[in-house]
Amino acid sequence: MVKIAAIVPAAGSGTRMRMNTKKQFFALAGTPLVGYALKTMEASPAVQDIVIVVSPGEEGYCRGAVIEKLGLNKITAIVPGGKERQGSVYNGLLALSPDTDIVIVHDGVRPFFSLDILDKVIAAAQKHGAATCAVLAKDTVKLANEDNFVTGTLPRNRTWLVQTPQAFCYRLIMEAHRRARDDGLLATDDTALVESLGRRVKIVMGSYENIKITTPEDLDMAMAIIKAAGEGD
Ligand code: C5P
Repeated sequence: MVKIAAIVPAAGSGTRMRMNTKKQFFALAGTPLVGYALKTMEASPAVQDIVIVVSPGEEGYCRGAVIEKLGLNKITAIVPGGKERQGSVYNGLLALSPDTDIVIVHDGVRPFFSLDILDKVIAAAQKHGAATCAVLAKDTVKLANEDNFVTGTLPRNRTWLVQTPQAFCYRLIMEAHRRARDDGLLATDDTALVESLGRRVKIVMGSYENIKITTPEDLDMAMAIIKAAGEGD
């Protein structure tokens, strides 16, 4: 049987949110934000183990206010995060059982991914080694220099906005993270580390609802999505 484990990094400081409760623990329609992603992982028949990464010192709070509150049974470890997201994912990787075949990485602050997308990403990782979901850019994306002068325009029909879940063969993602640490490479998502090894990453279609809650406006959008799904009444 294929062993599939998920890492949910939720150790960000959330400074763009300007709120007292850390956004990953902020109650959205009664459920802590990170609880949405964890519940979907828990509901997936494919996922056996879930490792959650929180800020150092928040392990106990997370256990009581999220894991026990929601009655989650697949959490195998709560580990302290690093300064950057990449270090947090690496700490999560170290907590996985070495007989893991496929590793899913999913941001704790993306509550609205579906089991269908998760299955597609897992299948693509099994076939190609590494996969992410993403959506096509609706706006034209420009690159600019430090003075905000445009230096290039990306072709919109090939410009993808990358989301999570992402999935990887265990050995590949371990090698990618170890090499990145050795080389001092820091990236904002895990597929970039696989790319840096010269390995291919497959894109599967994500969903525009799969937003990352980053700023206060995103919370309004999140409530609207929850209400439309009939869960927030
Ligand atoms: O940094 P970004 O907004 O892309 O964060 C994506 C996810 O990574 C969030 O769930 C956040 O809590 C997590 N993160 C982390 N450790 C950090 C920074 C971010 O686990 N040091």
